[in-house]
Amino acid sequence: MNHLLKMLDLSKEEIIELLNLADQLKYEKANNIPHPHLTGKTLAMIFEKSSTRTRVSFEVGMYQLGGHPLFLSSNDLQMGRGEPIQDTARVLSRYCDGIMIRTFGHAIVEELAEYSSVPVINGLTDFSHPCQIFADLLTIREYKGSFEGLKVCFIGDPNNMANSLIVGALKLGMRFSLASPEGYSLHPEIADFVAGNPDFEQTTDVLEAAKAADVVITDVWASMGDEAEVEERKKAFANYQINRQVMDTADEDAIVLHCLPAHREEEITTEIFEKYAHVIFDEAENRLHAQKAILVKLMAP
Ligand code: CP
Ligand code: NVA
Repeated sequence: MNHLLKMLDLSKEEIIELLNLADQLKYEKANNIPHPHLTGKTLAMIFEKSSTRTRVSFEVGMYQLGGHPLFLSSNDLQMGRGEPIQDTARVLSRYCDGIMIRTFGHAIVEELAEYSSVPVINGLTDFSHPCQIFADLLTIREYKGSFEGLKVCFIGDPNNMANSLIVGALKLGMRFSLASPEGYSLHPEIADFVAGNPDFEQTTDVLEAAKAADVVITDVWASMGDEAEVEERKKAFANYQINRQVMDTADEDAIVLHCLPAHREEEITTEIFEKYAHVIFDEAENRLHAQKAILVKLMAP
């Protein structure tokens, strides 16, 4: 594993290895056991979109590992004025030991990785959000003990989150049901991945998807970059919400996850959000532990 670009690139074994490392780092942090695996290392963090969790957990994670994070807004970089990705990759590789990027098109991350001589980490593209999925998987394992036999239900937009979650869940042997409206179909690469897999189902019926689910997940109706479609999406996704009826249909011990930020009364009701806030904020905390595992795996000597 030289980079972390998308879940499709990883084997089940690589995913489990990273989750186990995250558990170990979480234990060490909780018990004040120093873990300076990245002393003297620098991570460049390029942001072309907003972020709270990704930015802060990568920054804090680098400090806890003994390294140094560098926050680079694309507005301030020459990249924002048109300097090619391939040149940015080659320059940053001469100064830094790793590059994290949050951007729009997935091809940007792929190009950065092609021209970089240091590891590249995808901090979210329009296509995928692998760092978030590691936090979600850690949280599922913490609450459910293992992945065997679980059913994961995603309600809403088949976007970067759903794309990555589908791949992560199916690779780990979980079943996956996706409820999304007519006209919001799967990305072709994900459609290829799920083709013929009996553990995957897609429906327009939210309650059918939620039936006996162990994990219920959603994401915003309009992602970063979808701003022009907000009103149209509000109409299309109006029934695609995690609410009391959905949770009454899911397994009685089901948990709810949300990558955050959440839009209450849109993709999730305030009632359900608050009922499962303890899980959702454990999930947010797990971004830190998951990211540290990714950083150690890719950047430690
Ligand atoms: N979940 C997530 O990636 O959050 P941020 O957009 O705040 O980084
Ligand atoms: N799908 C959302 C996830 C935010 C973490 C977005 O891309 O804006």
